[in-house]
Amino acid sequence: MNIEHFTSEEMKKQIFKFTTASTEFYFAGGFSLLRKITDPKATVLITDEHVYKAHERRFRGWNTIVLKSGEDYKVQATVDAVVEALIEMEADRKTTLVGIGGGVITDLTGYIASVYMRGIRFGFLPTSILALVDASIGGKNGIDVGQYKNMVGVIRQPSFILHDMGLLKSLPRQEWENGFAEVIKHACIRDAAMFAGLEKNNLDAYQKSRKKICELVERNALIKIKVVQRDEFEKADRRLLNFGHTLGHALETQYELLHGQAVAIGMTYACHIAEQLTGFRQTDRVIHLLEKYNLPTYARFDKEKVFHVLKMDKKRERKDMNYVLPERIGKAVVKTVSLKQLEKIIQAF
Ligand SMILES: NC(=O)c1ccc[n+]([C@@H]2O[C@H](COP(=O)([O-])OP(=O)(O)OC[C@H]3O[C@@H](n4cnc5c(N)ncnc54)[C@H](O)[C@@H]3O)[C@@H](O)[C@H]2O)c1
Ligand SMILES: [Zn+2]
Repeated sequence: MNIEHFTSEEMKKQIFKFTTASTEFYFAGGFSLLRKITDPKATVLITDEHVYKAHERRFRGWNTIVLKSGEDYKVQATVDAVVEALIEMEADRKTTLVGIGGGVITDLTGYIASVYMRGIRFGFLPTSILALVDASIGGKNGIDVGQYKNMVGVIRQPSFILHDMGLLKSLPRQEWENGFAEVIKHACIRDAAMFAGLEKNNLDAYQKSRKKICELVERNALIKIKVVQRDEFEKADRRLLNFGHTLGHALETQYELLHGQAVAIGMTYACHIAEQLTGFRQTDRVIHLLEKYNLPTYARFDKEKVFHVLKMDKKRERKDMNYVLPERIGKAVVKTVSLKQLEKIIQAF
């Protein structure tokens, strides 16, 4: 009888079960492992021009569709174009799609794979910090419609997620900062020790040390995995991931801000709201940490306009809003806040 043997890379595989499906995670597995996970002959890679240009060599020998980069392309027209390309390539029910890129590419790929021939297998190789710690995990896939972000989509888990920190070498500094807003978010809601670790380190240290960034990414991925496992369809716990996002989204629709910047400002204000509603006493530490990672905290914005958008937020329930507020670093709760109260506190800053 043959003994089944594994390489050290394959040993890094971890399987996480969600309600609807399981996902294989290969933390720090490396791009070259992709050949072992999926047959190149029956696989189509989807990436964007930036990732493709920076890592062209990696794509040799793979069927690849290269898309224009940016949120503007996370729309139905791109889905149509990719579907046509897949038909042209004679992709069938046995084809696997692999999204290699930031959150725009993973959202698009997961969505296309969910509708092409009523659903084919898909996996991700996330290449931005944001996609590694957030967008690739949890099964939400979709596209924007006009000004409405993620208006159309599905919840469907990828078959596998493969990490390769080497791809981060080409990630622009600003995109590192953008992704670290979600890392700080995770620390605030779930992980006081990680928060302290972030205080001790800085972005340069994570950029320079493969070990440090690997550990940080894996720890963050696990936080998101656990929250989603407990609440895949966002009825309770998953809402905690919206920390900083309520005001953040409202700001994003009105101003030219990166998502992470908007969330950082949203977290700052949420801390102040928490001071009054949960007795939170660590706002200074959160603000220092955001500033350390070059993220904005306070901002001069048109309060009335932004508040109007905020009122339309989907988390609103009649006159009240569900707001994610920290109790202490490492622990957050969802509180019902009246719109009046919220307006009063936000107006004060
Ligand atoms: N599905 C979810 O649960 C979820 C969660 C959070 C965010 N998202 C979505 O994720 C998207 C944002 O993700 P993002 O910030 O990664 O955006 P993105 O995919 O647009 O990537 C940001 C920029 O970095 C470039 N890039 C990415 N990786 C690179 C690399 N290794 N080298 C060089 N350039 C690289 C991209 O080309 C792009 O220009 C949004 O559409 C958002 O809605 C989804
Ligand atoms: Zn976010």
